Amino acid sequence: MVMYMSKMVHLTAKRIIYFMFLLVFSVGCNDYEGDALDFDFVIPRDEVFAESIKEYQLFTEPLDELTPQTDVYLYELNSELFTDYAGKQRLIRLPEGAKASIQEDRIIYPNGTLLAKTFYFDADLSDSSQGRKIVETRLLIKREGQWNVATYQWNEEQSDAHLILEGAEVPISFIDHSQNQRQTKHQIPSEVACVTCHQYGEQSVYIGPTLKNLDRNVERTGTTVNQLEYMADQDLLPADLSSSTPMVNYKDDSLSLTQRARSYLDINCAHCHNPQAWSRPAQKDLNLHYEVPFVNTGISDNLKALKRNIQSGEMPFIGTTLKHSEGIELLLSYLNSL
Ligand code: HEC
Ligand code: HEC
Repeated sequence: MVMYMSKMVHLTAKRIIYFMFLLVFSVGCNDYEGDALDFDFVIPRDEVFAESIKEYQLFTEPLDELTPQTDVYLYELNSELFTDYAGKQRLIRLPEGAKASIQEDRIIYPNGTLLAKTFYFDADLSDSSQGRKIVETRLLIKREGQWNVATYQWNEEQSDAHLILEGAEVPISFIDHSQNQRQTKHQIPSEVACVTCHQYGEQSVYIGPTLKNLDRNVERTGTTVNQLEYMADQDLLPADLSSSTPMVNYKDDSLSLTQRARSYLDINCAHCHNPQAWSRPAQKDLNLHYEVPFVNTGISDNLKALKRNIQSGEMPFIGTTLKHSEGIELLLSYLNSL
């Protein structure tokens, strides 16, 4: 509380009202989040989010096929966040006529850019023809330099999705890759939870579509192309881009253990474990970004704690309910090899 009060001195009236609202939500709704997120961050409020996902015209009818509209582009990542075996579709739309720019190694998307990530669970992870349940579509919309966050929960009929700010749990069951029936309650994060992960240096940020994570081959209209080149051709990105440190796909076991493990740590942990992140994990002296030289990651000083946290499933702290056995195995093999 003391922390909240000292911050308020600097806030505008509009934000103070919102801050009160946030306090109520952050202690009220999701038990695990209320307890866990000692929160000290102002959520951007420059976008007034619509009630229904339909307003954003992301998909053609019928919505549940998740077919993007013509001005909305699919993008794919080298390295993906694990969320209880959910499938994810990632989309981007830039405002008409606008293009992203590059500053140092970072892609700066223009104001008005929309990023969308839709979560679904296949009934059988090995056979997508068995149907799926779409649970939520998360949005990031950039206004006045800040990424505004919101998520939309899909209805049972899968015909629409509605704005939900306080989080929810959705019962899920599916057959995993080893033919076991699995059950969980998918956690739809509250907006407070969104920005615990989506913050960097006191700004709200996007995480996935960086140069290092977009620099890969993809299939587009029947041919294999480099994704950065494809996005440049569609006028989303400047031409002639490449990443100095393209990440690898950690699922590809033909690649080196080090690269795979570092890529896993980057996308599953580094948004909290870097010096500019949410203050609580930022104090842990870890910097798990892929491009950080090993000596500066803090991995060797924290070997024991890393192994313990990974093995117990205590990390990634929020967002998942199931242990990622393949990820745990990868990280432990790597840490044991050091
Ligand atoms: C546990 C950390 C975590 C939480 C909580 C979280 N995200 Fe993310 N989010 C990520 C990571 C990591 C990525 C990029 C990797 C990926 O997409 O697999 C991402 C990707 C996204 C994307 C695609 C664009 C991008 O930044 O990569 C959107 C949109 C998004 N999140 C919105 C939200 C919203 C809205 C919430 C809250 C309802 C939320 N996220 C909660 C970690 C989180
Ligand atoms: C949503 C933010 C978040 C994510 C994502 C996250 N952590 Fe953490 N991590 C924390 C917080 C918060 C703490 C401090 C916990 C505490 O104080 O009780 C922590 C602590 C740790 C510690 C130190 C524990 C100790 O005993 O000092 C390790 C090691 C760690 N995390 C590893 C990881 C790994 C590996 C991942 C990815 C698989 C990960 N974390 C993902 C938030 C996060």
